Amino acid sequence: MKKTILTGLRPTGNLHLGHLFGAGQNYVKLQDDYEFYLEIADVQALTDNFNNPEKVRKNVKEITIDLLSIGLDPQKVNFFIQSKIPEIAELTVYYSNLVTVARLQRNPTVKTEIAQKKELFGNDGESITYGFLGYPVSQAADITAFNGELVPVGDDQLPLIEQCREIVRKFNSIYGQTLKEPQAFLSETKRVKGLDGNEKMGKSLGNAIFLNDSEDIIKEKVMGAITDPNKIKKDDPANPDICMVYYYHNLVNSKESVNTICKECKQGARGCVQCKKELIEAMNNFLKPIREKRKYYESHPEEVKEILDNGTKKAKQKAEEQMKKVKSAMKIDY
Ligand code: TRP
Repeated sequence: MKKTILTGLRPTGNLHLGHLFGAGQNYVKLQDDYEFYLEIADVQALTDNFNNPEKVRKNVKEITIDLLSIGLDPQKVNFFIQSKIPEIAELTVYYSNLVTVARLQRNPTVKTEIAQKKELFGNDGESITYGFLGYPVSQAADITAFNGELVPVGDDQLPLIEQCREIVRKFNSIYGQTLKEPQAFLSETKRVKGLDGNEKMGKSLGNAIFLNDSEDIIKEKVMGAITDPNKIKKDDPANPDICMVYYYHNLVNSKESVNTICKECKQGARGCVQCKKELIEAMNNFLKPIREKRKYYESHPEEVKEILDNGTKKAKQKAEEQMKKVKSAMKIDY
């Protein structure tokens, strides 16, 4: 029997290169060999976007199209919408008893997000809701509702998987062996740097290249990317290791071209403008098949809807079975 994979994404914006080279690569690789549930986590997205339902709704569709356009096969992957599986909400309530408030406040991912919010909104944390603090519990429900064994994620999600494992152990120790302890599955490329040289590419950091960026936007972003500040003139030798243009050449250009670029840059035989132009071309070539698939799905919205409906149906069946086991273990199977 195939092992089960579960992962989720918050529909709050389009996917970028960080997603693609991070967990996204693994999704594509793993889809052949596992029973794969891919959750569009609208309920989780609402925990800090409850006042912006339109944004979440729009991005459910956007992110589904992004995922299809990177090569996920809807015959192999069950795409589903979190809010359409009430069992997840139900499990969240039961798991809430198994987690202390102090433990949630110590969760490093939650802590970082709270710190970011404080910085952004300048408040003292008063606006942190019960729902937001508790989203790791809901994420534990996401995973265990499907008996997820492997969870392909980026390394920022490790504390959430650990929290899920703790909940599973606690549940099993109190109610008897029922749930599986999931394992995180990390990709080899841990992080993709941002256009500004930041270690992490992120939407909120304003330094991302999105999969749905147009050719014009790619041009603008690449032309503005950080290069070696010591290179003033076109024929000054430079250090490619501190240049974001060279960094992205590595991601999207051929090995051969990358070697040439590196050599020429160090020798002062290549100007930055030329190098950026070549990157724009390589980036557009790289994004071409993704753009084509996106275009197809954008013009076939009924197909996207059907993919979500079918995946959600399968997910619902699986979660219902699991819920029965949980309720029986908890002696609430009246
Ligand atoms: N927390 C993840 C994010 O921020 C999304 C997510 C929701 C998730 N449910 C999940 C990831 C279950 C892995 C497993 O993008």
